[in-house]
Amino acid sequence: MPYQGRMKNFYLTTAIDYANGSPHLGHAYEKVLSDVIVRHMRMKGRKCHFLTGLDEHGQKVQQSAKTAGINPLDFCDTQAAKFEELCKILDISNDDYIRTSQPRHVKVVQSILQDLFDRGEIYKAEYKGFYSARQEQFLQEKDKIDGKWPEIFGEVTQITESNYFFKLSAYQPWLIDYIRSHEYFIFPRFRAKQVIEFLKEPLNDLCISRPKERLSWGIELPFDTDYVTYVWFDALVNYISAVGYGTDTFADYWPADFHVIGKDILVPPHSVYWPIMLHAIGLELPKSLLVHGWWLSSGEKMSKSLGNIVNPLDLVNKFGADPFRYFLMREMNVGQDSDFSFDLFLSRYNSDLANDLGNLLSRLMNMVHRYCSGKIPAATCEEDFEKSLKDQAAETSSSALELFDGMQFHLGLDKIFSFVRSVNRYAEQRAPWKLAKSSDTKDSEILNSTLANMAEALRLAAVLFTPVMPSVSERILSLLGAEKAELYSGLTEFGSTLENRPIGEKVILFPRPE
Ligand code: MSP
Repeated sequence: MPYQGRMKNFYLTTAIDYANGSPHLGHAYEKVLSDVIVRHMRMKGRKCHFLTGLDEHGQKVQQSAKTAGINPLDFCDTQAAKFEELCKILDISNDDYIRTSQPRHVKVVQSILQDLFDRGEIYKAEYKGFYSARQEQFLQEKDKIDGKWPEIFGEVTQITESNYFFKLSAYQPWLIDYIRSHEYFIFPRFRAKQVIEFLKEPLNDLCISRPKERLSWGIELPFDTDYVTYVWFDALVNYISAVGYGTDTFADYWPADFHVIGKDILVPPHSVYWPIMLHAIGLELPKSLLVHGWWLSSGEKMSKSLGNIVNPLDLVNKFGADPFRYFLMREMNVGQDSDFSFDLFLSRYNSDLANDLGNLLSRLMNMVHRYCSGKIPAATCEEDFEKSLKDQAAETSSSALELFDGMQFHLGLDKIFSFVRSVNRYAEQRAPWKLAKSSDTKDSEILNSTLANMAEALRLAAVLFTPVMPSVSERILSLLGAEKAELYSGLTEFGSTLENRPIGEKVILFPRPE
């Protein structure tokens, strides 16, 4: 059915997490980054659809379930509950959560397999070679390093078996051309070079089947029930199965605007298999693969064996979701790696949040209660200090929004928090506590204007950091007497929004940790 002119959603997906592990900092970051982008787009008035989910099939899950003495689906139910809980405590505003064991997904994977098989894009052949059970992957001599199989492949065995192959190689020239001619397909751009480098070697066709005697926890091939399909062929399809591929509402979502993924799963799954699968079934490619870097722990990759895995729940339970979200977005330059350290977290919490932001709010509330009977006064005079504050407000709004548009969240937040510090400086310069002692009418006018401007500046900062700290922002706005609808309006305007609004009772937004 043709697209009927409904409004297309800004459609963003995350990678779907492996069900065999436990949620860690890497999973948390990807979800927070995605959530910040979606909330930013929603504030700009876009209708959004935000998908995340769980990758449930494969050898490792089958093995973990066996070890636990339960069936794989029961095992995945428990894991799904953990990952969904992570989304909840991080305040992730996803619209859907897909699990690859769900019938809606299985149905679409099978229909695509059948379609490609019927059109001769999938064929059967004998495979003779090396296989890594740990990576569920066939290997070639070229995968060896210094004549040995790298550690990540675990035990490698030689096997001979009949399997089904997808004609990946036929599309190699098309893919190279596509990546070269679509500047925004891979972000950041330097990652596209890695893909092009990978594509300099001839591609092999992709083995998309696994015999059931080796792996039974997977999606059965519709044209040969002795096999299940390869996990990546299954998992990637979640991006279209979740939004009704094959139904008439699919066009409201596809093509996706962003697939947010980590750098480890760009080549080859997202930059080679997925584009070719989509092209072969006649679908447009997603507009952009947003490839983020890795969180390291003391300079090393987090791993169970090194015992350096950071559990996001520990920090969120202690400090709340928003400070944790702020830290992740403030410290990571999207696309690069970043090192996690608790000391760094604590220093951001204390200096940016508790000192700069928390103090601004509490001193403002104190003074409005003390000098203006709890109501935000009107700003009636404007001198150089006020003019300069307003100029900074305008500059902060436009540059922070532009930086957010360009995924430069760390720089955008830096701008917003520099502005918060400027508001504190403005308060020092005007010193309302001194003005309050004077009986001069001009002084009381300046006093009122100072408090009004501080409140308006704080409102503006809170609106700007809403995508990153949605609850803190809502709390500040409500303490300033702003209504929720005002969150979404007057973004760049420094006005008199809050005149005469009652201010809330004093609270400590960021308590000092013990
Ligand atoms: N199941 C696959 C993805 C299939 S998508 C169709 C997978 N799962 S994963 O659980 O291993 O990783 C999920 C996401 O978390 C990936 O994008 C991965 O890059 C990201 N991260 C895992 N560890 C990470 C860090 N230490 N830091 C940042 N993100 C990393 O891959």
